[in-house]
Amino acid sequence: MLCSRSTRAVALARRYSNVSSTPSTIQELDRYDNLPQNSRVFSMIQPTGRIHLGNYLGAVKSWRTLSNSNPTSRFIFGIADLHAFTSFKPASELKENRYQAIASLLASGLDTSKCILYFQSAVPEHSELSWFLTCMTSMGQLNRMTQWKSKAQQSQTSSITDEKVMESTKAGVFCYPALQAADILLYRSTHVPVGDDQSQHLELCRNLAKLFNNTYGVDYFPLPKTLLTPAKKILSLKNPEKKMSKSDPVQASCVYVTDSPEQIQSKIRKATTDSIQGDWSFDPVERPGVSNLINIISGLTNESIEETVASVQHLKDHKGLKDYVSELIINEFSDKRQLYDELLKNKDYLDHVCKEGRDSAREVASKNLGEIKSIVGMD
Ligand code: TYM
Repeated sequence: MLCSRSTRAVALARRYSNVSSTPSTIQELDRYDNLPQNSRVFSMIQPTGRIHLGNYLGAVKSWRTLSNSNPTSRFIFGIADLHAFTSFKPASELKENRYQAIASLLASGLDTSKCILYFQSAVPEHSELSWFLTCMTSMGQLNRMTQWKSKAQQSQTSSITDEKVMESTKAGVFCYPALQAADILLYRSTHVPVGDDQSQHLELCRNLAKLFNNTYGVDYFPLPKTLLTPAKKILSLKNPEKKMSKSDPVQASCVYVTDSPEQIQSKIRKATTDSIQGDWSFDPVERPGVSNLINIISGLTNESIEETVASVQHLKDHKGLKDYVSELIINEFSDKRQLYDELLKNKDYLDHVCKEGRDSAREVASKNLGEIKSIVGMD
C-alpha cells in the first residue's frame, strides 16, 4: 500500500502526465493503435552519429512501434543530413556519421519492409520545396524560434536584429525550420512523431501549410499533427535542467544505444539525483534527477508515470534505483548494440538500404513537388 508521500507522488505524476491544455494538433502517444487508417507518418533524425536514449525514447522507439502496428499507413523516416550541414564537419566525419545514423536506426528495429528509410540529401526535392517555403516565411517567425539561438550559442532572449548576433549566425541555422517544414510537407504528411524539443518547429510547419493553402486557394497540405511519446523529454543525466543531447560536452550526460553495459552502468551511477530519503516521487521541480530516471523507466517499460512510481517503491535507495535503470537500459540495448556493430561492418548493405529508400521516397516527393509547382505556376 502506498503511504501519504507516494500518494502525493502519484497525484503529482498525474498532474505532469495529463496536459489538459494539449491542443488538437498535438497528440500524446499513449497507444499505438489509434492512428487513423491511411495516415502518412514522417520524421527525421540528424546524423550526428549514434543515437542516444533521448532520441530513442522520444522518437525512434515510437517510429518502430507505429510502423509495425499500422499496416494501412505509410511511414517515411529520414536521416536529415542537410540539417546536419548547418554545423560544419570534415567530409570523412560526416560520411561516417551518416553510416552510424542509418546503422543505429536499423539496429533499433526499424523494418524497411514497413517503412521507407533514406538520406534527405539523396532527394533533391527537399531543397527545392525548402526554397518556396523560405520565401513564404517571415524573418519574425524564424526569429521567434528558440533552437537557432542555442545552436548559434546565443541567449534565448537574443534577436537576429542585433548586429553581433547577425554576424555570428549562419543563414542556414536561422532558416533551418523552413527546411524542416519542407521535409514534412513534401510528403503531405499527416503525423510527425518527435520529441518535445521539435514542437515549436512543427507549429511553424502547420502555419506555413495554412499560409500556402490560403495563398493559393487550395486544400493541398494537411496540417500535420505532432505525435509526442510519453517520454517526450529525456534530460541530461548530469544536469537534469537541460535535455539529453549529443552536443553536450559532458560524456556522462548521455547514454547511447551502442554503449557497452559497463559504460551504461557507469553513466547511470554518476547521474545527478538528490539526497531525499523515503518514498520515490515524480516531481520534476523538486526532484528533477529522480524524475528523469522515473521517466526513463516509464519510457522503457511502457508503463505510465503513475504505474512506474508505484512499481519502484520497493527499491531501497538511490543505488537500487540506479541499478534498476541500468539493468533496463542494458537489456533494451544489448541486442541492438550487437546488430549495430555488425551493420557498420557491412557498408554495402547500408548503401543498398539507402538506395532503395531513396528511390521510394523520390517517387512520392517528385510527384508531390510536381503538383506543388503546378499550384504555384511553375509547371
Ligand atoms: P534531432 O536529430 O535533434 O533528434 C531526433 C529526434 O529525437 C528527439 N530527441 C529527444 N526526445 C526526447 N528527449 C531528448 N533529450 C531528445 N533529444 C532529441 C527529437 O525531438 C527528434 O524527434 N530538426 C530535427 C530533425 C528533423 C526533423 C525533420 C524532425 C529534420 N527534419 C522533419 C521531424 C520532421 C532534429 O534536429 O532532430
